[in-house]
Amino acid sequence: MGSGKTRKMAIRSKILSTGSYLPEKVLTNADLEKMVDTSDEWIVQRTGIKQRHIAAEGQYTSDLAIAAAKQALERSGLDGGDIDAVIVATATPDKTFPAVAVKVQAAIGASRGPAFDVEAACSGFIYALGIADNFIKAGQVKRIMLIGAEKISAAVDWTDRTTCVLFADGAGAVILEATEEEEGVISTHLHADGKYSEILNTTGGPSTTGTIGHIYMEGREGFKHAVTFLSEVVQETLEHNDIKPEELDWLIPHQANMRIIESTAKKLNMGMDRVVTTVDHHGNTSAASIPLALDEAVTDGRVKRGQLLLLEALGGGLTWGSALVRF
Ligand code: ACO
Repeated sequence: MGSGKTRKMAIRSKILSTGSYLPEKVLTNADLEKMVDTSDEWIVQRTGIKQRHIAAEGQYTSDLAIAAAKQALERSGLDGGDIDAVIVATATPDKTFPAVAVKVQAAIGASRGPAFDVEAACSGFIYALGIADNFIKAGQVKRIMLIGAEKISAAVDWTDRTTCVLFADGAGAVILEATEEEEGVISTHLHADGKYSEILNTTGGPSTTGTIGHIYMEGREGFKHAVTFLSEVVQETLEHNDIKPEELDWLIPHQANMRIIESTAKKLNMGMDRVVTTVDHHGNTSAASIPLALDEAVTDGRVKRGQLLLLEALGGGLTWGSALVRF
């Protein structure tokens, strides 16, 4: 499904500000060597990951989300009361219900509009961005607090070396605001193919085992499909907007694996100096990885106002998608 070009776009969703939060605890590859039969060399060579942040016991996804939201709010100069809706992309909510988003809503004092979670695994932030953008374009709300937040460590089997070296916790937030200027989200492209659900999933859930289960992944299959579907959706985005790869300032991909990121960049003929990578120090934070990467690059001055950004992700489902954004 594509959105954006076929209609006249009077209203667009501008990214007003960003924020993020990473838990204090850092887990290095050396720490993992003491937990499972692995090595720093294997992890770095296959994934690019050197360290990751892990939430403390008693620290929940909503805590991470609220911290990121408060930072985005502070940087925007707005009050919580100025926010019309809260959307949180997460696969690891505090509880089955209520949504993490209502906790954020209460914590920032945004009490007027809808608050809900979006679950599309690692593609969650792109899906939520597509939904938020359409809410704004429809004129239904003016400002949305949009967050990707995960305590994915809670779903990791810490004795399984094939997955425990990959995943990590964190949260990233953006505030979207309706604008009539030529900036903001230009188009979003969302896809899923449920016949690949066995490749990447959890072994439990509320209506099956009554537990959250553990992450199960067929690594090689996931890798193969990630490379194929991401290059397709990137191509779709370029063609839909009639732009060439050289017009892009930054590729901000989901941070699952350095080799997948490099392969997408190569297909776009983009040097790694135009790709935002955080996988080495964040690991795979699922729905949080893109807003975390965006916030890091905005904060350190790499991503500047007016630049053209291509965001893309693939995750369990399989789900995948992209967004073209004039920052
Ligand atoms: N340390 C040491 N050895 C390991 C480890 C580890 N942590 N994990 C697996 N191995 C071993 C395996 O047991 C296997 O050994 P064997 O040959 O004796 O059987 C060997 O290393 C090779 O395993 P593979 O799984 O084939 O290794 P591969 O090169 O495929 O790398 C990886 C694994 C990193 C998981 C890779 O497949 C991958 O990144 N896949 C994509 C996952 C992904 O990012 N999906 C998209 C995003 S979805 C999301 O973000 C939720």
